[in-house]
Amino acid sequence: MKVFITGIAGFLGSHIADAMLADGHEVSGCDNLIGGYVDNVPEGAEYYQVDCCDLEAMKRLTKGVDIVYHTACTAYEGLSVFSPTMVCQNTYMNTVSIATAAVINRVKRFVYCSSMARYGTQEIVPFTEDMVCRPQDPYGISKYSAEQFLKCLCSVHGMELVIAVPHNIIGPRQKYDDPFRNVASIMINLMLQGRQPIIYGDGTQKRCFSFVQDDIYCLERLAFQDDVVGEVINIGPDEEFVTINQLAETIARLLDFELHPIYMQGRPQEVKMATCSADKARKLLGYHTEYSLEKGLEQMINYIREKGTKKFRYHLDLEIVNGKTPKTWLNRMF
Ligand SMILES: NC(=O)c1ccc[n+]([C@@H]2O[C@H](COP(=O)([O-])OP(=O)(O)OC[C@H]3O[C@@H](n4cnc5c(N)ncnc54)[C@H](O)[C@@H]3O)[C@@H](O)[C@H]2O)c1
Repeated sequence: MKVFITGIAGFLGSHIADAMLADGHEVSGCDNLIGGYVDNVPEGAEYYQVDCCDLEAMKRLTKGVDIVYHTACTAYEGLSVFSPTMVCQNTYMNTVSIATAAVINRVKRFVYCSSMARYGTQEIVPFTEDMVCRPQDPYGISKYSAEQFLKCLCSVHGMELVIAVPHNIIGPRQKYDDPFRNVASIMINLMLQGRQPIIYGDGTQKRCFSFVQDDIYCLERLAFQDDVVGEVINIGPDEEFVTINQLAETIARLLDFELHPIYMQGRPQEVKMATCSADKARKLLGYHTEYSLEKGLEQMINYIREKGTKKFRYHLDLEIVNGKTPKTWLNRMF
């Protein structure tokens, strides 16, 4: 199969590319490097430094392609209320152009990476795929709007659509010098530099983290199984539900680091309890986990140690600066 992956220099895009190459598929992909690292792109994949919003380029690059994985995104949930233009452009609008190109070139299947931000705040956790979505920030709203847009375009033009909902996936290759996202990677990068982690709010917000190797085979299956067409499927664990405080404690223990977190004001619109049910993935994709949170964090620590710690790069503009803008970003505290 010929597979085209948007966001191939990113965390999930590059791991999907690896899996596809290992199974003998022909892989190409694009990235505009707003996130990700160019050296994430695996050898053997054809790489284009192009923005998905460039419709003409997307039309050229998806000619003869069987499957599109659309992972390209600025997945900055907290930042999205302060830089909505940038986030919506690279979440919703880029979906419009890559999907349009895929339809024009008669791509067989489009696999879209949505986000658990689609669910927003629900009365019960874990979130299941049939819940009414209540996204509550520009990122989640863009992700969910992109899903609705894709459903419409795919049903009119007969392109197969599968919607994956990855959540809190962690692992090597995740950007760790980005002050705007990836809490586990940020904490490891800070603690390895002997610096205390910064926690928004009181740290009791809860998440479920999964290690990338446990998720990637599920994401790969979405391209080939017949019974997943038209489905929305959560991809990630529902086992170890931890607070952000516990996450920091676990990393500190693994690094033998004396922990005294710096607590900052909570970010607007942050969902307190967020975890998804993996029942559907277990049933349809045989999802199971082999990595505990601790085992996954060990792999990330090894990766960051090997690559070297990095200074945080404030590479994105804050479009809205007012009293609500987190001081961590305004004063470049990471
Ligand atoms: N990692 C997770 O736990 C997680 C959770 C929920 C959702 N997701 C979704 O999965 C996808 C991949 O996430 P990730 O963690 O690998 O993020 P990532 O930032 O590592 O990768 C995304 C890549 O997309 C690229 N990109 C952004 N806008 C682009 C554009 N307009 N044109 C071309 N390239 C562009 C970035 O440069 C980056 O390399 C995203 O759609 C994200 O919303 C991931």
